Amino acid sequence: MTPPTPLRDLYERARATGRPLIGGHRGNPAEAPENTLASFRSALDLGVDMIECDVHPSSDGELMVIHDHTLDRTTNGSGLVVQHTLAELRQLDAGRGERLPLLRELLELVSGRAGLCIELKQIPIAYPGLEERVVGLLREHQLVEQIAVISFLHSSVRRLKELEPDLQVGILEGARPIDPVGLMRGALADIYAPHYGAMDPELVRAVHAAGGSVGVWTVDDEQAVAWCRACRPDSVFTNRPREILPALLQ
Ligand code: G3P
Ligand code: CA
Repeated sequence: MTPPTPLRDLYERARATGRPLIGGHRGNPAEAPENTLASFRSALDLGVDMIECDVHPSSDGELMVIHDHTLDRTTNGSGLVVQHTLAELRQLDAGRGERLPLLRELLELVSGRAGLCIELKQIPIAYPGLEERVVGLLREHQLVEQIAVISFLHSSVRRLKELEPDLQVGILEGARPIDPVGLMRGALADIYAPHYGAMDPELVRAVHAAGGSVGVWTVDDEQAVAWCRACRPDSVFTNRPREILPALLQ
């Protein structure tokens, strides 16, 4: 069996060809409950190159896929994810009868089918030791080279790279800083991941000149697609892969 292409090579190809990698942001949340296996399967069936997900730990140290620090918006539970055990979390309904996935279940689903971008949700509540646990799981599944891990907490990104230099890591940004490449260097990042509205052509040129990749979120309408065509980022994450994937490939 041919081993899956390392994510670093996929990003290099995207830079060279100008054809961005297209990712399902929280899977395909336009058509299935976000961050559930149903949502991820739906995005994979539509042919995305990558999946994006968000991770928090349970109180007993399991890595759970869910966006918010709290359970209230996306499940029938309430309170902080980190104050519940895996057994408690697995009883919850994450929408249409779906359960909160474990990160290991998502790794098994995407392995050999797509790349995966894992966001560690470390702000405003940071989880000490989360980086070690994630790197340990990726090593156990021999998927270090197929995965990117990103965070708004840039010290967490740096910690990940120090732990595992073969892992692609990325810094998230909502603003347009004066020196994005400087921020990447400070965090030892391979990927600069801004909101698409905080991207401009000069930013993409600067990151490329420094050997990095640009991955943007969340591109869900025609204007956002047009801006990506103008700026040419290397990966684009969308909540609406059914419409946006063909639009970006036109
Ligand atoms: O991929 C980055 C993006 O997901 C960050 O924002 O709130 O959707 O997790 P959020
Ligand atoms: Ca996210």
